[in-house]
Amino acid sequence: MRRKLAAGNWKMNGTGQALSELADLARAHPDPACDILICPPATLLHRAVQISADNAINVGAQDCHAEASGAHTGDISAEMILDAGARHVILGHSERRQDHGESDAAVCAKAQAALNVGLTAIICLGETLAQRDASATLDIIAGQLSGSVPDAVTGENLVIAYEPIWAIGSGRIPEPAQIGEVHGFLRARLKERFGADISDAVRLLYGGSVKPENAAEIFAVPDVDGALVGGASLKAAEFSPIIAALE
Ligand code: G3P
Repeated sequence: MRRKLAAGNWKMNGTGQALSELADLARAHPDPACDILICPPATLLHRAVQISADNAINVGAQDCHAEASGAHTGDISAEMILDAGARHVILGHSERRQDHGESDAAVCAKAQAALNVGLTAIICLGETLAQRDASATLDIIAGQLSGSVPDAVTGENLVIAYEPIWAIGSGRIPEPAQIGEVHGFLRARLKERFGADISDAVRLLYGGSVKPENAAEIFAVPDVDGALVGGASLKAAEFSPIIAALE
């Protein structure tokens, strides 16, 4: 019922030259059995959309402002993302929570803005190593989930990415059972709040040091509907086997 999703977060990487990776990816996956999404920096959004017009690659943004327009130098609105041709936006990534002090409430407001214009919100959450060591993971996740996800979700327009902060860019990943525990918990909490129809439609991604070598093991975990991939999504040659593991 839920179509798997392989999402790439390019973070602050890539100039125009990097767009050739999109074309390579599209050639490698002309008719993929899962959804493929690339979230490049905002400067590449429109060109990425143009390159992907006739292929199976979807394009998303990495952040949006909570307001529709106004005096917010350097920010972009959800409508601008839509206007550029993208249909997804990553929100509440731990790097934005850390670098820009984004609270759960701020992420929730951004997600609402995204839903208002018809974008799909990919909301990120995850614990620090200290929180995991203190056995606080599920409490942290529960708080982030209830605080960051707006009421107005339909299921299809929400993706949750579980990204343990200590696994991002570190080469370390949780045990499959630990990923399964969090994903099962997320599904149960979504069901409590929104009911079975919506919770069954929400895709739950794992993110943090996903590589071709560990993708199959991660994707075998129940309630993992795909991945949000950072470093390994920058090159088609490395992202492609991760997509293949999901198909
Ligand atoms: O959003 C993706 C992410 O934070 C994971 O990054 O480089 O560990 O795959 P990476």
